[in-house]
Amino acid sequence: MAVFAERAAARAMAVHGSLTVVLFCSAPLVPHPLARIHLILAVGVMPLILSAMVYFVPVLTRGRSAAASMTLAPLLALAGGAMATVAFLGGAGAPLLFTAAGAVALLAVIAVAAWASWRATDCVGGPHPCLTWYLAALICVGTALGAVLLIHQWQDQYYAIKRFHLHLNTLGFIGLTAFGTLQVLMPTATGVADESAADRLRSGWPWALAGTLVAALAAGWWPTAGWIAGLLWLVPVGRALWSWRERFPGPVFTWHGAPPLLAAGLAGLAVSLVLGALHGAGRLDAAGAVTFFVMGFLFPLVAGALTHLLPLWLRPDEPWRAAARARLGRFNGALALLFPGSWLLAQAHPRLGAALALAGIASFGFKLALVAVSALRG
Ligand code: HEM
Ligand code: HEM
Repeated sequence: MAVFAERAAARAMAVHGSLTVVLFCSAPLVPHPLARIHLILAVGVMPLILSAMVYFVPVLTRGRSAAASMTLAPLLALAGGAMATVAFLGGAGAPLLFTAAGAVALLAVIAVAAWASWRATDCVGGPHPCLTWYLAALICVGTALGAVLLIHQWQDQYYAIKRFHLHLNTLGFIGLTAFGTLQVLMPTATGVADESAADRLRSGWPWALAGTLVAALAAGWWPTAGWIAGLLWLVPVGRALWSWRERFPGPVFTWHGAPPLLAAGLAGLAVSLVLGALHGAGRLDAAGAVTFFVMGFLFPLVAGALTHLLPLWLRPDEPWRAAARARLGRFNGALALLFPGSWLLAQAHPRLGAALALAGIASFGFKLALVAVSALRG
């Protein structure tokens, strides 16, 4: 029964992970920008993160696997994300539909948060500190979705609430989960122990959470405080980058494997914070921050994490996993350069830059398809 539940959570992750890469590749076909960004973030990334939590929380609390029914929560979030995307396809959005979408997604978030908190209190010896980052991330997305429910009741605050929602979701939900997961994933993917990671996670979350809250409040109501948010968040990110520089140079500066993309993801988060402080101070167009967040942070992060984890979720036999990992990791070092490079190119030639980023993620999608077919054949 426990093995069945573990396989259910692993398969759900594999499906959400593959779907996210497909959505990254197909999003340019969606004409409306709000529908496009919600297709990527709310249909792809939000359910992927929630299913990652359903998979990892039992590991972080040293407990039994999640019941198979818990895999329904990310599906519920996916339904909410799809409803929001459909609502935006018409333009500014159908108010009733996206209020319903927000409520459905919020329900899924509350379910995962309640279950993760219960597992944390039930854990003998205390949970791994990464769990605190996941709970903080869930508080951010819950608050962001709750704010959306009010957006039409409070018309004169529409733009402030929208900015509050978007910063809590990107920096808070995605940023906090990504940072916590990367600290655990990098030592596993490189096979090099990192004794400092747990300490960094334990002491770093108040800085990151405070940075997120200040950014969301600054973006909504108090723009001059934006740079404080950048500085707060850079404390844990800077410490991690410094430690990784000493610990993982070999596996990171190479052409193949997951580590080059994982490192590009962490560096991408740091650059997103700098771009955030700059557009918050009115020195840069905010649209540039959104494209960097997707091309320079999300693309390497998701591709790097899937390179290491997808084989683990797809099949239990170790020789197949090693071969699948090698296939997924081929030339990931080049991708780690291509993603930020395509954003730089996009500053001069937006279409060319976007096309290059798309070619990069599509090439990863192709490797992923080959691995999925090989898993199904076995
Ligand atoms: C599923 C429920 C969701 C609903 C109902 C929803 C609703 C909204 C609304 C009403 C806006 C303001 C639109 C406007 O400018 O008129 C917005 C903007 C935005 N949302 Fe969401 N959202 C949802 C989920 C998410 C998630 C999960 C993320 C990210 C993880 C996200 C990221 C964003 C971003 C980045 C913007 C700003 C887009 C831009 O101006 O370019 N949303 N959302
Ligand atoms: C430390 C990080 C960040 C800080 C301090 C920050 C701060 C701010 C501030 C103060 C504003 C309002 C600017 C104004 O009133 O003119 C703003 C707007 C905006 N930010 Fe950020 N930001 C950060 C990160 C991000 C990230 C990661 C994204 C995208 C993923 C983003 C996307 C946006 C967008 C799209 C707007 C304009 C919203 C609109 O009115 O249409 N920001 N930000």
